[in-house]
Amino acid sequence: MSQEGRLQGTFLNSVWPEELKVPELLKSATVRSLHANIDHEWDPLQRSACQTAAGRALWNHVIHDPVAEVLAGESFLRNLYEKMRKDQLSNAREVSGVILAVRTLWFDSRIEAAINSFEGGTAQVVLLGAGMDARAYRLSCLKECNVFEVDFPDLLQTKAALIQEAIRSAEPQQIAMIAKSLIRVAADIRDGNWLEKLQRSGFAPERNTVWVLEGILYYLPHIHAMQVLQSIAANCALTPTILLADFMNKCSISISHSTFQFYSDWPDHLLPTLGFSNVKLSQIGDPDAHFGLLHDPQNLFNKLRNLPRSLQTHPEDGTPCRRLYLVEASGFPNQATA
Ligand SMILES: C[S@@+](CC[C@H](N)C(=O)[O-])C[C@H]1O[C@@H](n2cnc3c(N)ncnc32)[C@H](O)[C@@H]1O
Repeated sequence: MSQEGRLQGTFLNSVWPEELKVPELLKSATVRSLHANIDHEWDPLQRSACQTAAGRALWNHVIHDPVAEVLAGESFLRNLYEKMRKDQLSNAREVSGVILAVRTLWFDSRIEAAINSFEGGTAQVVLLGAGMDARAYRLSCLKECNVFEVDFPDLLQTKAALIQEAIRSAEPQQIAMIAKSLIRVAADIRDGNWLEKLQRSGFAPERNTVWVLEGILYYLPHIHAMQVLQSIAANCALTPTILLADFMNKCSISISHSTFQFYSDWPDHLLPTLGFSNVKLSQIGDPDAHFGLLHDPQNLFNKLRNLPRSLQTHPEDGTPCRRLYLVEASGFPNQATA
């Protein structure tokens, strides 16, 4: 083997060693029992939150998330880890979880840019379908921000209990809240009163706001996804607003047995009709959605983004063009039409 090959092998083994090391914290009785409840009682929608946390935990050479492992739990870590090892051993062009890693890093960078675009770097940041997101504990750009996490009540309770366990077992200051404040709001965003609940929890409609809709819209029925987007657009009439969201296209939600519902092939056309402006759309692999993680130039994402977006199937092999769009849009009081 060449020296380069040996170095690459050593690097990959140091990133994802041959065996997954499960931290002691995950073996504690409290954490085990919280995760047993997740495994047995939660539906796939809620469990998807642990899946994404597992992605962040296992891509920890590029994402520093001090609580991702405990939030993911052993079974989700093992499942994803097995897939990643297989990909690595078969020299796959894309390693499992890379979409999650790129998506996380894209949202991190856009959240920071959005906050900095407001005078004084202060804003409220609302995470809809926050799941096991731990940005309040890991992004320094949130230090002057009030953060709101909206999700189902049992998910938020379990999350708080897991983070408490992690803090209890860590060295002092190893895991600390960075955000100015963090408020968890138990709400189902399909219900008409979620915005009211958010306001009752301290959300101020007239304050600069960054809305983070990461991995959530496509789990909603079409009507509810549209209502959520319309409610946010309506807020643009009151205050400078930045929306960050990912959208699946129609091919992506058509996978059999999938729980996905809402899609948009043209979110860059849809959002202006709701009152948003300055819509910028990126695809995985674009210069701002790459982060040095897609080494093989022939990877699936490069192939896709070089094809016209109107194509439903790949002309070479007839496979469906499944796309994930990363979208940023804004709205200001004097521009909003919705
Ligand atoms: C794939 S996870 C994404 C979590 C997080 N945004 C992330 O990227 O790590 C989807 C999350 O949306 C939440 N969710 C789905 N439907 C919801 C609804 N109707 N109301 C509130 N939360 C919802 C789930 O409970 C889950 O935590």
